[in-house]
Amino acid sequence: MIDRATAYDLMVSKIKNRNLQKHILSVEAGMIKLAQHFGEDVEKWGLVGLLHDLDYDKTAKDPDRHTFVTEEWLKEYNLPDDMIYAIRCHPGYAPCQSRMDWSLYATDPTTGFIVACALMHPSKKLANVDRDFMLRRFGEKRFAAGATRENMAACSNLGLELGDFLMLIREAMLTISDKLEL
Ligand SMILES: [Fe+2]
Repeated sequence: MIDRATAYDLMVSKIKNRNLQKHILSVEAGMIKLAQHFGEDVEKWGLVGLLHDLDYDKTAKDPDRHTFVTEEWLKEYNLPDDMIYAIRCHPGYAPCQSRMDWSLYATDPTTGFIVACALMHPSKKLANVDRDFMLRRFGEKRFAAGATRENMAACSNLGLELGDFLMLIREAMLTISDKLEL
């Protein structure tokens, strides 16, 4: 297994882009929030978030290898299989099965969507983005088009309404709003 400090150091050693680091920290916060919500393993879910895009820079030109390079790098830490599996599921390289798989799958595009909501809000503050604002933007296909709506809507597999899911991830991101500068 790996501890959070080691995982964090590993992440910043592999990911140099600040925005990508912010994305990863947002997904970590979202996974922690969802684990708390469901009474699941907070440490494990947080680590899955923190490590899910570890090879993103390395595989940028070779997206078929995304997550598989991460698996290679993480071998020495002997992570539980379910963590590796959840990471492999997030770009669709394995079918989501567990609640942890679906959580990562749905949270990944949602963090970018919420950042876009905050930047579009007149105040540019995450704290002022509410449920209705996010749900209206969700319905606008051209808004944050990179945030795949289908993946976000997979929160239904967690038994969560879209509005509730968006509010949970927003709340998670608010806990690190200083790091996100939002
Ligand atoms: Fe990601």
